[in-house]
Amino acid sequence: MKGLMKTNMKIKMNVSIAILLALTIVAGCGSKNEGASTITPSPTPTASATTSPTVSPSVGTTPTPSATTSPAATATVKPSSNPVTSPAASPTPTKNGAIQVIAKPESITVLVNKMNSLPSSYEPTDLVYPNIAFTFSEKIDKRKMRQVAATAIEKLFAGAAKDGAPLAGVSAYRSYATQKSLFEAYVKKDGEEKAKTYSAVPGTSEHETGLAIDVTGSNGKCAAADCFGGTKEAIWLEKHAGEYGFIIRYPQGKAAITGYQYEPWHLRYVGADIAKEIQSKNLTMEEYYHTVPVSK
Ligand code: DAL
Ligand code: ZN
Repeated sequence: MKGLMKTNMKIKMNVSIAILLALTIVAGCGSKNEGASTITPSPTPTASATTSPTVSPSVGTTPTPSATTSPAATATVKPSSNPVTSPAASPTPTKNGAIQVIAKPESITVLVNKMNSLPSSYEPTDLVYPNIAFTFSEKIDKRKMRQVAATAIEKLFAGAAKDGAPLAGVSAYRSYATQKSLFEAYVKKDGEEKAKTYSAVPGTSEHETGLAIDVTGSNGKCAAADCFGGTKEAIWLEKHAGEYGFIIRYPQGKAAITGYQYEPWHLRYVGADIAKEIQSKNLTMEEYYHTVPVSK
């Protein structure tokens, strides 16, 4: 009887490990130990060159202000220069701390975090394959980014390579369903509380916007792992990502504000104006928008 239970447990554990491995291959991750050693260029020519732009008016780099309370819709008012918790600039959660569903998920400056969730049905309409190297060779969804972010990441990679800090993509776009499977696998592995410190609950991952990408050095080592911090590529990103419109979204020492531990590899496209301001002032997106800290 005991032997039978042991065997069952072994089988269950093996199944869990197999699921986790499969997900890592399909989705990449937002956490740790995603090693991949082969760097392969995009298997197709640049999508920005082959795909006709399908950018809707709200997708431009200068979102139109609107009357909603979404910061995404108010990005042009530079909220951080005006340190007042204006409701227009702040998607402050409801008093009971409930998560808000984002009104304009397609905005380039959308704030996605533990308190501001994308609609579960949201799928960006202008995903393309940026022409950059990745740590894997398959032509799968996690290579994709939205058009404007894809063009910007191509420029960022070229700038980094020119400065002697060549990069490789690890994981960009994820659907809600992919994030759900990934998050559930991490919960199985580490328990919910720990998983939430490094992986987003489905609906609340920036990877679902098509505006985020995890990167590493071109040797593929330290992909989505702590050892990426302090490398020449990570240092280059800290100095230069803003010029290309990207921010390091989960900076060191800001977990109490962002809700996530340091992720030197997770880049989020917000456009150069906001990115440069966030970088030069050492802000998080939450601080830029004057929202409450997101610590759980
Ligand atoms: N690792 C980040 C938080 C994500 O899962 O989107
Ligand atoms: Zn990430």
